[in-house]
Amino acid sequence: MNETMKILVVDDERPIRDGCHRVLTGRGYEVITAENGQIALDILAKGPLDIILLDLKMPVIGGKEVLEVTRATYPDIPVIIITGHGTVDTAVECMKNGAYDFITKPFQIDQFVLTVQRAADKRKLEQKARLFEEENIRNLYDLNLEKSRLKTIINRMANGVMVTNRNLEVVLHNPALMRLMETSEEIENPAPIAKIINKASLIDTLKRILTGESSEEVSISQEIQVGKNTLRAISAPALGPDKSIAGTVTVLEDITAFKQLDQMKSDFVNMVAHELRSPLVSIRQLNSVLLEGLAGPLQEKQQDFVKRGMRKIDSLIQLINDLLDVAKIEAGKYVQHQVPTDIGKIIEEIVALMEPGAREQGIILTHSFRGLKPVQADPKNMEEIINNLISNAINYSPEGGRVSISARGFGEYMEIKVEDTGVGIHPEELPKIFDKFYRVKHPKTRQVTGTGLGLAIVKGVVEAHHGAIDVESIVDKGTIFRILLPVIEPTDQSQKDNPSE
Ligand SMILES: Nc1ncnc2c1ncn2[C@@H]1O[C@H](COP(=O)(O)OP(=O)(O)OP(=O)(O)O)[C@@H](O)[C@H]1O
Ligand SMILES: [Mg+2]
Repeated sequence: MNETMKILVVDDERPIRDGCHRVLTGRGYEVITAENGQIALDILAKGPLDIILLDLKMPVIGGKEVLEVTRATYPDIPVIIITGHGTVDTAVECMKNGAYDFITKPFQIDQFVLTVQRAADKRKLEQKARLFEEENIRNLYDLNLEKSRLKTIINRMANGVMVTNRNLEVVLHNPALMRLMETSEEIENPAPIAKIINKASLIDTLKRILTGESSEEVSISQEIQVGKNTLRAISAPALGPDKSIAGTVTVLEDITAFKQLDQMKSDFVNMVAHELRSPLVSIRQLNSVLLEGLAGPLQEKQQDFVKRGMRKIDSLIQLINDLLDVAKIEAGKYVQHQVPTDIGKIIEEIVALMEPGAREQGIILTHSFRGLKPVQADPKNMEEIINNLISNAINYSPEGGRVSISARGFGEYMEIKVEDTGVGIHPEELPKIFDKFYRVKHPKTRQVTGTGLGLAIVKGVVEAHHGAIDVESIVDKGTIFRILLPVIEPTDQSQKDNPSE
């Protein structure tokens, strides 16, 4: 926009042309001159200019005709009429026909420059407005294009998409969603959510998202059953321009095939584990017969070999038991008989059993209790989870570490905490450690053997007891696993500890 303005001066009097040229070029304008109307028209035929200064009285083609042609071809170019005293009336008439202004000869320089300046400003303003309008049109076009593109993508997606507003009314959904929900009914938006997805668990999740209970960055994943199919629904808050929660977005995916495959894999692992266990148990029995000398005395070396073999067999049996446990948990058959259970006693026994080993590894193992209350649980299961957590804490702590186990009444729950001063777990790894077979690769714990099933079992057991487990960890500082298990009789003094024990 900072380009030089181009002015055409049309006058048959040379001194006027020269005068205009001098004054205007001195003020930064580019000036072209024409001595008659014909030359002016020839110049205009080559392309537009910014301003025209036009004498009315010229031989052959007069200013009026030039004005007429200019108005018709370039209606935006401001034309300033140059008049002698005798032609003022005609100049006024020219203004009626679209001239921008007029100046009378002889010129007063100040006024002349001012008039041209005003015409230049008008021209610049108009050019700016035009550019702005063009850009606006382009933006609108882009926006429309973007909108229709988005619509096409959403409508063609294989996954179901559903967007609700704050009142849980569906404001956008795609054909895939209706297909996954197995409805053929046409539904106009906005529609109440229950008309499209009548699943209490999902509606609950969306309500929680809307009340801001869940963090706004988190998306919640859950499985829902529709007919014979299993769908995974991933829901997240839809944020408005001010970052407040304006609604929810849910994407639904059909995972029936994955579920079937996963089931087949679990069945296979389960079957193999079963088949392996009985011969291993027999081998173990035979070995222990050998060790006890029931098949004749063994030399020291022979005894040593058999013992080493036994240790390997024991860890194999342990692995197989873990695999079978996971399979049982997944089938919902793990918790056998729940009785009132004293968690404190179980912890004491396990600590007593593991303390010497921990000491050998240079780790101090301590425990403390406050306000113990019995929980309704399967004692074997409780042993297993506490055992798992403590052995992890010991295994993933370097020499000189501390592992402390505490149990306390916490309102309607018993809280069991296992804290260590070990290697810690990176925040990115934290959500994965409860997955089956997941083990963190850490240079300091490479020598620790394991299958990655321990925490999967712990979580499964805790959840089967209607409890909850969470973990906090700082790399190189330590880790805290915290379990909450419901106590048998909910107390009125929720959140208060019972100091009597
Ligand atoms: N207290 C802890 N400190 C640091 N890392 C831990 C701790 N507990 C668990 N982890 C990490 O989580 C992973 C999973 O633990 P999990 O108990 O499920 O399996 P594992 O100990 O490797 O094998 P196993 O099935 O024999 O218990 C571990 O491999 C380890 O990397
Ligand atoms: Mg473990």
